[in-house]
Order: sequence, then structure tokens, then C-alpha cells
Amino acid sequence: MRVNEINSNELNKFPYSLSIWEDQNDLVDSIVNILEGILRIRISESAAKPIGLATGRTMEPIYLSLVERLKSWEDLELNALRKSWHSFNLDEYVGLSRNDANSFNNQMLHFLGKPLSLDPKVIRVPNGMAEDPWVEACEYSNAINKLGGCSIQLLGLGINGHIGFNEPPCYADSICRVVKLSKSTREQNAFLFRGNNRDVPQEAITLGISEILKAEKIYLIVTGSSKHKALNELLYLPSSKYLPASWLRLHKQVNILADRKAIEGN
Ligand code: GLP
Repeated sequence: MRVNEINSNELNKFPYSLSIWEDQNDLVDSIVNILEGILRIRISESAAKPIGLATGRTMEPIYLSLVERLKSWEDLELNALRKSWHSFNLDEYVGLSRNDANSFNNQMLHFLGKPLSLDPKVIRVPNGMAEDPWVEACEYSNAINKLGGCSIQLLGLGINGHIGFNEPPCYADSICRVVKLSKSTREQNAFLFRGNNRDVPQEAITLGISEILKAEKIYLIVTGSSKHKALNELLYLPSSKYLPASWLRLHKQVNILADRKAIEGN
């Protein structure tokens, strides 16, 4: 059940829309409806821009449900989807290979690539094993920019307000680069590493705020009470380097889908 839908006039222009959901399943259905619609349009476009995807626990139920939905498409449409698929992920750990069970690359293959029989080459994720990760970051950024940025960017929110792996402090003009991960982010993501913080890599390659802001539309998904503080600051405080997500205020088409726990904090 949707608890509330607030538009940008009531929100002093940011975000473009905010929908609040009582139940996480309903939120998932809503974003899956949006993604399905976007993917359906893309299959008939000759020069469709890529879509921007994210990883993380917030995205897992979304991808599971999206796969179910897409599998119900006619074969003809599904084949067209496979041919037209072109996505760029936000980030990857430095030092983890595509086949490493904990890499974001592997997560994408597990949740989308394999179930939809997509060519791994069209699910682009930075190469965490590149000989020079800085060169990889630069090439990854160039590849997105050459295509004019993404049509949509799906985003999760870090407990410390990061998007992608843009850790605070971070500026609006930051570009795709190698970053050192904060202690809190490594703790937050330790679930992939059998809960062991020490196994979480120290560095990652992430799109910067500037590439994220190039997307035509942004969908920020925020679930759970642990995200309440960051979401609250994003909604009510001005942009600052201490809350990387707050640079989203510079974008005119940010749609936030949140559950009640993230909004109310309990
Ligand atoms: C992670 C990732 C982000 C993700 C965010 C939220 O560290 N780098 O891309 O969206 O933090 O993660 P989760 O959905 O697991 O809470």
C-alpha cells in the first residue's frame, strides 16, 4: 500500500517525487513496473541510452521480481530485450575478479545476467582486476560519456549518505575514480563476506557524482530504518560534501521511493 505520494511543488522542488510505501513488496512492485516500462520502450529504440544499475541488498528483491516479470514477456520481446540490453553499474571493489563470488560483477550475473541469459559483455561493471584501476576508472567514465550518459540511474543509499561508493567528503564535480572505503561502508557491506569486515576490500572504483547526475532520470530506493538519518538529511538539509547523496538536489528528475521505516526511522 502506498502511504503517500508527494510531488515536487510541495517539496520545494526536491525531489521530483517522493513515494512512501508501507510494505517493501509494494515498493518493489512499483519500481519494477517503472523498470519494465523503460525496458519495453528501449527495445524499440535504435539508439537507446544505457541504463544505470546498482548492487546491494536494496536491489536484490527488485532484480528478483524484475526477472520474474521479464520472463513472462513473449519470446520475441525477450529476445529483443537481450539484443538491446546495455547497462552500466555504479561501482566495483578493487582487487576482486568478475568471477569472485563477492564482486558486484558476479552479483549482476547472478541476479540478472544468468536468469535472463544476457551476454555478460552488455552488463558493464568496472573491472576490479584492471592492472591500473585509475586508468580503468577513466575508461569506464569515457565509455558512459561517449553514449551521452545513462537514461535512468537506479541508486541505493549508504548509511553514511553515499551513493555508488562516493564516500563523504565528496564534491558534486567528482568523476569516476578509485576511492578508499570508509570503515562504516566496509561494515555495511560485510554481509557479502561472511560478515567479516577485514575481508571487505579497502578500495573501489565508483562513478562520480558528475556521471550520476548526467542520467536523465534518477530513482533512489531507500528501505529500512538504518537509512533514516541519511534520508532525513537528504530531504531537509542543503547539499553538502558530508552527505554525497545531497548533490542529487542539483538534478531535476530525482524520484525517491522509500518505505515507512526509512522515513520514520522505526
Ligand atoms: C553500497 C553500494 C551502493 C549501494 C549502497 C546501499 O555500498 N556501493 O551501490 O546502493 O551501498 O547498499 P544496500 O542496498 O546493501 O544497503
